[in-house]
Amino acid sequence: MKQHHILITPGDGIGPEVMTEVKKIISFLNTEHLTNITITERPIGGAAYDIHGVPVTDETIDIARKADCVLLGAVGGPQWDGVEYSLRPEAGLLKIRKDLDLFANLRPAIVFDALIQASTLKPDIVQGLDILIVRELTGGVYFGQPRGIFDLPNGERQGINTQVYTTSEIRRVGRVAFELARKRQGHVTSCEKANVMESGKLWREEMTKLQMEYPDVRLSHMYADNCAMQLLKNPRQFDVIVTDNLFGDILSDEASMLTGSLGMLPSASLGACDQNGHQNALYEPVHGSAPDIAGQGKANPLAAILSFAMALRFSLDLPAIADHIEASTRTILDNGIRTGDIMAAGCRMVSTSEMGDTLITELKRTQKKAVE
Ligand code: IPM
Ligand code: MG
Repeated sequence: MKQHHILITPGDGIGPEVMTEVKKIISFLNTEHLTNITITERPIGGAAYDIHGVPVTDETIDIARKADCVLLGAVGGPQWDGVEYSLRPEAGLLKIRKDLDLFANLRPAIVFDALIQASTLKPDIVQGLDILIVRELTGGVYFGQPRGIFDLPNGERQGINTQVYTTSEIRRVGRVAFELARKRQGHVTSCEKANVMESGKLWREEMTKLQMEYPDVRLSHMYADNCAMQLLKNPRQFDVIVTDNLFGDILSDEASMLTGSLGMLPSASLGACDQNGHQNALYEPVHGSAPDIAGQGKANPLAAILSFAMALRFSLDLPAIADHIEASTRTILDNGIRTGDIMAAGCRMVSTSEMGDTLITELKRTQKKAVE
């Protein structure tokens, strides 16, 4: 069986707890000879800062590059609020994204039937919802130069960030969106602010040109503010949404809430394939480090586990095991197993580790069927 090597960076807050459950799933799969995965573990974010004085070390970046993929928990926490920007936990995440050139961030927002009541939107608006947000992740205003806080001659201070995109940056993320739409409903909605921003005008022009190479995919353009509104009004009009780094950050948080819980949503950040067919990739739950509940066994590990399922599909080429994990997740939710964030009347509340154990029990129960 093909051997795979994964770097696990648990990070801060609830990161280590949810990644413990992912490691349990991996050792179950290894024991059953369904996978042959070796793991290296390194700190990232505040955890790395406390040990090494930086939120990610060069050694970790080097391991990440060579690994089949990286599984990340979450970064950040109030104890590092006073640390300067370049050394903050978030800077570690931004650095690993940038150094590995992980330009395409895939954030699915799927409503599980069993969780429909957890959404703050009416069930008939969100039932069956299946949106994929493709967020550009290594460009735009989070990385553009110049940036900084500068003293002006008049004694004022000025904060500057620069929104900048080149044609190649737009086109490569656009391609990812069009390719994925082909395997889904065949509809891409491209979001920008072409009405007020040149970078948005360029974005729109390049997406329009690119669509000519994908005549089977329908392309709609939408201003990002309208998209924020349409996501609440009629979210099922969307299939794939492709957008820049900042709008994608915001719209993906909004889309995640349609589903009822941030604790359920996985993400993949992908780079380009090199000549040897190797593709850098990082998988992480969309939720943050949730310092308020860290260490209490309350966190929902399913987003991290579903992120691992995405890794099995996109990086390890083991889609059947990914399907099996996703189907088993659906079953245990149908059976009323819930962590606090998705708790509902008549369901059974479980801890982080009980959720992982329940999933493994279900994987075992259905394993024969899945393999046949
Ligand atoms: C996300 C987060 C990050 C981002 C932070 C933690 C740097 O909000 O992944 O959406 O802004 O990209
Ligand atoms: Mg965000």
